[in-house]
Parts: sequence; structure tokens; C-alpha cells
Amino acid sequence: MTNIILLGPPGAGKGTQARYLVESRNMVQLSTGDMLRDAQASGSEMGKRVAEVIARGELVTDEIVIGLIREKIEEGAEGGFIFDGFPRTLAQADALAELLSATGQKLDAVIEMQVDDEALVARITGRSTCGDCGEVYHDQTKPWPEDGKCANCGGTTQKRRADDNEESLRTRLMEYYKKTSPLIGYYYAKGNLQRLNGLDSIEKVRENLAWIMGE
Ligand code: AP5
Repeated sequence: MTNIILLGPPGAGKGTQARYLVESRNMVQLSTGDMLRDAQASGSEMGKRVAEVIARGELVTDEIVIGLIREKIEEGAEGGFIFDGFPRTLAQADALAELLSATGQKLDAVIEMQVDDEALVARITGRSTCGDCGEVYHDQTKPWPEDGKCANCGGTTQKRRADDNEESLRTRLMEYYKKTSPLIGYYYAKGNLQRLNGLDSIEKVRENLAWIMGE
């Protein structure tokens, strides 16, 4: 079993690579962003409370996010977890360490995906996903198929996220540098940190990630 964190700013490619790992290694992707968007879509009270916070690009409270992820970690995952977008604060990192240790699990690697801000803006403002299977597209580098059908599942709903605009992205980046980037030093000190050039092509990043994970 391998438990890894994909750490990186918005648009670094965490979700794109996590999908490959789910397919190739039977791992379970835990994306707190997806969980929060599911809560919004379900119309739950919590979903309503966080909707504006997410649209502004700010972080949701640690309490809510840890509450969302706790049960999943307790259930465990045979092929291991890919933590995508979690932890994002030092308090979340401490909570993750406690939860893993309390359930006899451990963290194997933290992979920091490095991408500069200019590339992040281009990636985020051009992103769309399939509303049925979540396949990730980009207007320039991986355009939504001309026949209007997702290449992965044939679904016909192309979705764009409410927070994928330049204004929210500025806040998301500020939140990342202020609250999440201290995790780089935190995990470096624990000897867990590995670095990956996220500016490489999607295929190259995928290869390098597989190499880091010992394939
Ligand atoms: P979340 O959903 O986690 O968003 P994010 O971290 O901002 O990351 P993204 O999903 O935007 O980017 P990604 O790295 O997955 O990139 P992707 O692979 O899609 O969080 C959203 C919000 O929820 C937060 O702002 C916050 O409010 C809240 N939240 C979530 N978790 C939280 C937590 N733990 N605590 C508090 N609040 C939380 O790729 C992007 C684009 O680039 C795609 O179009 C893709 O095709 C393209 N691309 C990917 N890789 C490459 C490549 N190598 N070359 C060229 N293009 C590429």
C-alpha cells in the first residue's frame, strides 16, 4: 500500500495525475475540492455555507475539511490513498498524521508539483471537465472533442468551475503561498518530500511520477 500527497498550487496538475494513478494502481483519490463541490451540488447546509468561500478562492475551515476526510481515512484503501488538495494548512497536516497513525497507516511520499504562476493562469482559465466522468480538458492543450462527446465516456456535458477565473485564481494563489506552501518545509523536515517539474508535458509528468513511486 502506498499513501501519497500531491502538493501544488491550483492548476499544478494534481487532479490530472491522480486520475492516472487511480486507473493504473487501483489507488483511491481523496480530493477535498471534489468532496466540497459534491456537498454544494447536493444542496446540503454545509454545501451552501462553503459555496461562496470556494467561489472567492479562499480556504474552507480546517474543521469542515478534516470532518469530510476523517471517515474515508478510517475506512482505509487497499491500493493506498492519493491525497489531492489535502492537507492545505499545517493544522490539516497534523490532523492527517494523527488519523493515519491512529488507523495503523503511514504516509509514503509527498510529491510537490512545481509550476510557475504564468502557466497556472493559462491552465486554470482554459480548463473544463466532463460532467459525467470528470475527465479533464483544456481549451488549447486538450480541447473538448469537436463531436461534443467526452473522449473517455461519451458524456455530453462540458463543465467549467465557478472559481476558474482570474480574480478567484489570484486569491487561490495567495492562499496557497501563505497557508499551504509552509507544508513544503514541514514535509522536507520529516524526510517525505519529493519534487516534480509540473511544467513538463502531462505524459512526462506521469512517467516521472511513476518513477518516483517505484515503477
Ligand atoms: P481544489 O478543487 O483542490 O482546487 P485546486 O487546488 O485549486 O486545484 P485544481 O483542481 O484547480 O488544480 P489541479 O492541480 O488539480 O489541476 P488539474 O489537474 O485540473 O480546491 C478548490 C477549492 O476548494 C479551494 O480553493 C478551497 O476553497 C476549497 N478546498 C479544497 N480543499 C481544501 C482544503 N484541504 N482546505 C480548505 N479548503 C479547501 O489541471 C489544470 C489544467 O491544466 C487542466 O486543464 C489540465 O488539462 C491542464 N494540465 C494539467 N497538467 C498539465 C501539464 N503537465 N501540461 C499542460 N497542461 C496541464
